Amino acid sequence: MQQAHLANILHFLSEPSASEEERSYEYFEKGLLVVEEGKVLALGYAKDLIDTLPSSTTVYDHKERLLLPGFIDTHVHFPQLEMIASPGADLLNWLNEYAFVAEEKYANANYASEQSDRFLDELLRVGTTTALVFGTVHPESVHSFFTSCKKKNLRMVCGKVMMDRNAPTALLDTPQTSYDESKQLIETWHHKDRLRYAVTPRFAPTSSEHQLELAGQLLKEYPDVYLHTHLSESVSEIAWVRELYPKRDNYVDVYDKAGLLRPKSIFAHCIHLADNEWKRLAETNCGVAFCPTSNLFLGSGLFSMKKAKLFSVKVGLGTDVGGGSSLSLLQTANEAYKVLKIRNEQHSPLLGLYLATLGGAKTLDLENIIGNFMAGKEADFVIIDTASTKLMEHRITHCESLVEQLFVLTMLGDDRAVTQTWSGGVKVYDCANDIQI
Ligand code: GUN
Ligand code: ZN
Repeated sequence: MQQAHLANILHFLSEPSASEEERSYEYFEKGLLVVEEGKVLALGYAKDLIDTLPSSTTVYDHKERLLLPGFIDTHVHFPQLEMIASPGADLLNWLNEYAFVAEEKYANANYASEQSDRFLDELLRVGTTTALVFGTVHPESVHSFFTSCKKKNLRMVCGKVMMDRNAPTALLDTPQTSYDESKQLIETWHHKDRLRYAVTPRFAPTSSEHQLELAGQLLKEYPDVYLHTHLSESVSEIAWVRELYPKRDNYVDVYDKAGLLRPKSIFAHCIHLADNEWKRLAETNCGVAFCPTSNLFLGSGLFSMKKAKLFSVKVGLGTDVGGGSSLSLLQTANEAYKVLKIRNEQHSPLLGLYLATLGGAKTLDLENIIGNFMAGKEADFVIIDTASTKLMEHRITHCESLVEQLFVLTMLGDDRAVTQTWSGGVKVYDCANDIQI
């Protein structure tokens, strides 16, 4: 069955540059998105397309609303939602005081299942349709998460944490159990419907060399699974990695020697990398998750987009909840703007929206499947009210251009701007009843 959505529609075709953004996007005022069997069939002006629709088409009129591709979160921890906004002294203290304490609860499958549903509800409320997600060390956490996603046929990537040292005993696995459990989860979930698996060593300090080698072994056996971990987030973490891995040249080299650098390997943070580390990430075509709310909240440092560009490394936005302080990619784009501003790095006011959509898709190697509305891509989109608060309404009336309006959306917008979320051509969230469907 065909469906069509009337709205003002915007999507990106490429990354907007600071001096020139117009060629980077397409905008259809009074546009029409035609969807068939969960995929985009056509996009254009309603006046050109409306008469071509078969009479059986269901037409949804979103009026003056803005229709954007669904947001993509390239780094988030679902079990940490319950301790978001916990004030740690720094990353390592925060992990011990709050993150590990919350994660211990996920040994209980019922608890994990309840929390998976809750997390997905929140994700859809903020308009995120795809995320690269950390579970906990417990395989149950990933079974629960994927089971919740499967019910709504979402496109999500998740993995069980591999962690065999420097954490509470209740959260430790061993190299062999982490290998076996990850392998079993891959066999069960990878490519089931729209789900994909990520081999997920937490970070170098909580994995022995042997465990990282076995993670590399899994990547050899399953070349199209993801690798998802943290890299170069805080100065004390980096000093610790140097102590734990004295034979390695640097932090990137720890992962490199274990065979973890390749496309579909996504590293969160990457704040303090040396040039030779950036170079190696570029050579191996790895992706990076820029997590501004987390980096500011934990005081970890300021990410450099300039470096990523200089070395041509793919970048997406990550919320990194619970280190991050919001699940909203709009709020994340807001903080990203400020981080780059304080670094004095020039960028387009549209960069945040690009990173939250097509940039995220490219980083996750999913740009042929999601990220914009090219024909054949999956119909994941959000309906946005750019006047969702009194202040936004007031501000928008003073905007003189589309770019200005979109920038205001990323500065003032949050979950209140998201009125509906659609995944694979199915409505999965509607603020009208504030229920997840
Ligand atoms: N490094 C290792 N584990 C974590 C985590 O859970 N959150 C963040 N932000 N950094 C980490
Ligand atoms: Zn993280």
